[in-house]
Amino acid sequence: MERQPRPGHRRVGHDGKRRKVVPMSHETPDRPLTTALAEAAATAGRAPSVHNTQPWRWRVLPDALELRVVRDRQLTAADPEGRLVALSCGAALHHARVALAAEGWAAVVERVDDPSDPELLARLTGLQRVKADPEAMRTVQCMQVRHTDRRPVSDEPVPVATIDDITKAAADEGARLHVLNPDQVMELAAAAGHADTVEAKDSQLREELDYWTSRTGTGTGLPPEVLPEQPPQTTVPGRDFGRSGTLPVGPGHDRAAVYGLLYGDEDERNSWLRAGEALSAAWLTATRLGVSMVPLSGVVEVEGTRQTLRRVLAGLGYPYLVLRMGIADPEHAGPPHTPRLPTEQVVDTSAVRAGEA
Ligand SMILES: Cc1cc2nc3c(=O)[nH]c(=O)nc-3n(C[C@H](O)[C@H](O)[C@H](O)COP(=O)(O)O)c2cc1C
Repeated sequence: MERQPRPGHRRVGHDGKRRKVVPMSHETPDRPLTTALAEAAATAGRAPSVHNTQPWRWRVLPDALELRVVRDRQLTAADPEGRLVALSCGAALHHARVALAAEGWAAVVERVDDPSDPELLARLTGLQRVKADPEAMRTVQCMQVRHTDRRPVSDEPVPVATIDDITKAAADEGARLHVLNPDQVMELAAAAGHADTVEAKDSQLREELDYWTSRTGTGTGLPPEVLPEQPPQTTVPGRDFGRSGTLPVGPGHDRAAVYGLLYGDEDERNSWLRAGEALSAAWLTATRLGVSMVPLSGVVEVEGTRQTLRRVLAGLGYPYLVLRMGIADPEHAGPPHTPRLPTEQVVDTSAVRAGEA
């Protein structure tokens, strides 16, 4: 664990850069720390999650913020090992870290893997007042507009420098992004088609998908408005949600899309958590640069196709998630925002004094 810095010393911010610690009290009269923690946890509610399960719960403590996984919202059929649930929670963790930095709080991140408390994923501790980070403020604005747009992307190519920036954002958070060459994209397309076929034959997976695509009014799951009304023409098939939505899809084909594979050195919970943080950083960078990103996790869910991805990486590491990147169709309106759970259901402030958070 990182040691707590003393006031006036430099410490590492949410983006890995060193920042000066400004000596200030935790309990500044205008904004108590617990308020900042509760607000950061609420902002993290905007994070992406597989099937919009939002499988996290935050606990605000007087001097720390705890992130816990909610097993009831883990996909037991599609994600028994917990890869996607940890990726989703990691995305929320990165959102909370950036939200704190935007408010002028530096935190130490402890990623926990404690068999005696398996739900506890991470703790933000050692909070110190620092100068509010303008870059983090811009990133928080991107959280408000980022969304998943499953329509085909436009024919406009994504500049190489933009892909480099997205890749760097992921790398800064400890996961790597491999951009697939045309042969590898064809291999991915075949694997994604195969994964869809395998999943369509599995009744438990179908039931699970059906559950998360029929949750209207609950604040979780995928409403019809965000699902395409017909399968979009894409080089790599997107997930077959087993039902048509109401999102209009144009005749375009996403030939200009770039496919990336998020991967890393280990295949265990903390590396999936970090990969989720990297996913969030990469996606928010993409949003800032006008790039639409869609994760494709079916190929990772099916063991056989995950091994195909491992071979594509040729020993570089373990695959976590496939990402499609492209410039969104500028002619038509994209999908609406996917709903979220009310904050009080995901942020527990009962441990802090009434009225403080
Ligand atoms: C780990 C992970 C896996 C995902 N897998 C898919 C996928 O296979 N297909 C898809 O269309 N969207 C996928 N998504 C996107 C989620 O469905 C989306 O983030 C969620 O519904 C919330 O919507 P929003 O991103 O528009 O806020 C995935 C997201 C995450 C974090």
